[in-house]
Amino acid sequence: MELLHLVATPRSDGSNTLRISNAVIDCLKEKYPDLKVTTIDLFHADVPAMAGNKIDTKYMIMQGGELKPSMISTWSDIESYILGFMRADMYLISAPMWNLSIPYALKYYIDTIVQPGYLFKYLPDGTPVGLASGKMIVVKTSGGNYAEPPLKFIDFHEPYLRGIFGFCGITDIQFISAYLMDITPELREININNAIEQQIPSVVANI
Ligand SMILES: Cc1cc2nc3c(=O)[nH]c(=O)nc-3n(C[C@H](O)[C@H](O)[C@H](O)COP(=O)(O)O)c2cc1C
Repeated sequence: MELLHLVATPRSDGSNTLRISNAVIDCLKEKYPDLKVTTIDLFHADVPAMAGNKIDTKYMIMQGGELKPSMISTWSDIESYILGFMRADMYLISAPMWNLSIPYALKYYIDTIVQPGYLFKYLPDGTPVGLASGKMIVVKTSGGNYAEPPLKFIDFHEPYLRGIFGFCGITDIQFISAYLMDITPELREININNAIEQQIPSVVANI
C-alpha cells in the first residue's frame, strides 16, 4: 500500500500544515502497518515545466496524433511524474492556503501530471472521464477562518482541489482544516490540536 505525500509548503520544520500531516501519517501507519510513504517536496523537486515543446506534445496526445521521436524523449520526464502519481493507492496533500488558493508549487505539479490519456480522457461527445482513483486526504491550514462567512465565499483552495482531482476520478477527498494560524500563538495551538485530536481520527477511520 503506497501513500503519495505531496508537500506544498516551503516551511519544513516550522510548518503548521506538516505538524498535522505528520500526525496523519503516524495514524495511517498504525492502521496500515505495511504503508510505504513516498514524499514529493514540491518546493524543492525538479518537476518538469509544462512549457516549450511539451505543450505541442500535450495537444498531439489530446488530438490522438502520432508523437515524433523528439516529443517522446521530452515527454518521458513528464510521464515519470504521472506514473509516480498513478502508482499510489492513496494521497495526502499538505497545502496551506496561499492567496485564497493553493501554493503555486502545487498548481505547477498539477499542470504537469494532469494529462489526457493518463489522468483523464474525453469521450467522442466531449464528456470527460477521470482515469485516476484512490482516496485522498488534504491537510489545509490558513491564517483566517474560511469555515464561515465572510471568508467562506472566497475560499478557492478546497473547491479547486475537489474540482481538479474529482475531474481526474478521485472523488473520495477528505479535508482536515486548521484555521486561525496567524492570529495568536494560543489560537494556532488550539486549532492545530483540534485538527490532530478531533479531525484526524474520523478521517483516518474512513480511509
Ligand atoms: C504567500 C502566502 C500567502 C498566504 N495567503 C493566505 C490567504 O490568502 N489566506 C489566509 O488565511 N492565510 C494565508 N497565508 C497564511 C498561511 O496560510 C498560514 O500561515 C499557514 O498556516 C501556513 O502553513 P505552513 O506553516 O504549513 O506553511 C499565506 C501565507 C503565505 C506565505
